[in-house]
Amino acid sequence: MRKKTPPADVPARVLRAAKKVMKNAHAPYSKFRVGAAILLTNGKIFSGCNVENASYGMTNCAERTAIFSAVAELGPKIEIRAVSVVNDQGVPCSPCGACRQVIYEFGPDATIYFQGAAGPKKAHITELLPEGFRLK
Ligand code: THU
Repeated sequence: MRKKTPPADVPARVLRAAKKVMKNAHAPYSKFRVGAAILLTNGKIFSGCNVENASYGMTNCAERTAIFSAVAELGPKIEIRAVSVVNDQGVPCSPCGACRQVIYEFGPDATIYFQGAAGPKKAHITELLPEGFRLK
């Protein structure tokens, strides 16, 4: 897989979309609001927030909310170019393991922008998820 770096304006665009939707989070249990936005190769941006549940394990992360929303709207032939993740506490937060696998399914060449331990960070999905699994 050739790694394509998204154009220079992409981080700011997905960051803005992620911040905007973060306020819609349903996070009464963790009190940790997360927003995510994905840019598709067709230029469209979809966003999502975390949606928690009293049965904690049913929680849906912001990243998967954004991806599932894109699939629901456009069908499964989407290709994710970039992902941005933000949280309302300004703490380091990269996509969880489950979300990495879901990002990989639709974006094996995706670039992820998130808050790392030492500040804003950019990583290719294969850095976050080596040996990603796909049935193709
Ligand atoms: N969460 C996300 O939505 N995305 C992440 O990348 C990390 C964690 C959510 C899940 C849960 O609602 C809350 O943050 C605390 O884990």
